[in-house]
Amino acid sequence: MQNNGLDTAQLGPNKTIHKQRLRQTRPVRFRPDPDFIAANRINLDITNIVNAVDGEPFITEAELSAVGRRAVEMKKLIEAGKGDCLDNGIPMLGWFTLPDEITDEHIAEINAAATAFAKDIDTFVSLGIGGSYLGIEATFKALTHTYFNQLSRADRGDVPEIYFMGQNLDPDFYRDSLDLLQGKRVGINVISKSGTTTETAVAFRILRRLVEKWAGGNAADYIVATTDRTRGALRKLADRKKYKTFVVPDNIGGRYSVLSDVGLFGLAVAGVDIAEFLAGFRTMKERTASDDFWKNPALIHAAVRYLAFAKGKKIEVVASNSTHLLHLARWMEQLFPESEGQRGNGLWVSPSLYSEKLHANGQMVQEGPRIFIETFLRLRRHDNDVSIPSDPEDLDGLNFLSDNGRSLNFVNDLVIDGPAYAHLKGGVPNMTIDFPERNAFNIGQFYFLMELSAAVSGYLAGINPFIQPGVEAYKKAMFALAGKPGFDEYRREMEKKAAAFRKLTI
Ligand code: PA5
Repeated sequence: MQNNGLDTAQLGPNKTIHKQRLRQTRPVRFRPDPDFIAANRINLDITNIVNAVDGEPFITEAELSAVGRRAVEMKKLIEAGKGDCLDNGIPMLGWFTLPDEITDEHIAEINAAATAFAKDIDTFVSLGIGGSYLGIEATFKALTHTYFNQLSRADRGDVPEIYFMGQNLDPDFYRDSLDLLQGKRVGINVISKSGTTTETAVAFRILRRLVEKWAGGNAADYIVATTDRTRGALRKLADRKKYKTFVVPDNIGGRYSVLSDVGLFGLAVAGVDIAEFLAGFRTMKERTASDDFWKNPALIHAAVRYLAFAKGKKIEVVASNSTHLLHLARWMEQLFPESEGQRGNGLWVSPSLYSEKLHANGQMVQEGPRIFIETFLRLRRHDNDVSIPSDPEDLDGLNFLSDNGRSLNFVNDLVIDGPAYAHLKGGVPNMTIDFPERNAFNIGQFYFLMELSAAVSGYLAGINPFIQPGVEAYKKAMFALAGKPGFDEYRREMEKKAAAFRKLTI
């Protein structure tokens, strides 16, 4: 197709907007047929792990098979509800059984609550941090238009604008956000399993005034709390104020909770097909039930990362050729380091958009210390394609693309293929997770694949991947400095230690 400008009429309708408009039906059931499953299969390609451009591969198939035997045993432990998985005496394996436990009735209940909640509001703000935030935002961004909030309500699929807050304590961010939200009919979902997380609680204090201002005596209709069934400050507050509540199950930790009500309510408000999302989890659960290591992508993924770390790799660059799927890498940045990063173990996950990052730390990936592995999240079929206009003068020399019918889709695929080869040649083994397209089914498959991989990876390393004892250290120091009751002794200790430091400010 010849296209000499950016006249969008020539490009046809935007398919992302088309998909959003179709979402208004909020289906309850999604039973994928075999053709749909085959066309939407998430594949893991480890060719560039077990091959080298020159010399020996970094990891051999024999090494993988050996770790694979242990990985199969770890999976069996998870299936049996066993292994090092306790948090406060509770086995944190609820995420594994959840795909089989969610009923159509529950999906219907969430959809109905989301519809009722969304219909009278202009703007939905999801408040939470870590596992009470990242999965929702990643899924939302993976499946929606880049400028979602700037679209008309009809083009968004008759849903409100969506924002995420509660992940920082920056006063400028909050002031700017309040300016943006002023005068709008705001609805809030505050999410905190513990109910005591400072960032979320502070954001909720600030934001709920906005709801109370516009909704007056009906404010409770526009505030939903997702928290522990019985415990915590947020539970107490929600019960007292009669907010609608959803429950974070006792046996599911934050970073494994995106399929629970933590993710489902907000995603339903955003118009995401949560029945299709659930079907993705179920499909991947069935596929990763295999005890044949070489047929099980979760076990292979865990074994590759385990061996990479054992052989000296420190950083996993997770790079996508999709500005949308990039957010899944941000979700991985939490899932893996917060699960694996104990007792000197764990790969640092570095989310990257390619080709942007190829012009930044790409230099170091190619020629810096050989501490990297790379995982590509490759989107095969983008919703839209944009052709590259032909130019009679060809001063920039790009007619070799436009005149051969090469569109952005073609070039954007090469931002995976090019680095995959070049980086492998430079000593960076890499694997690719292929997404046939952006839909809720594929994102659901991906999450289950990664959650099982993280769990197996923790078991392989001999650590409990469902706790995060290290996160408490910064909280303790912050509370002591803020003068929170009960932290006086720690503050005195901090002051004493700091007083002994040789001050060095330049
Ligand atoms: O994965 C985790 O457990 C953490 O990242 C938590 O989700 C995060 O700290 C937020 O906790 P809470 O939901 O208790 O506010």
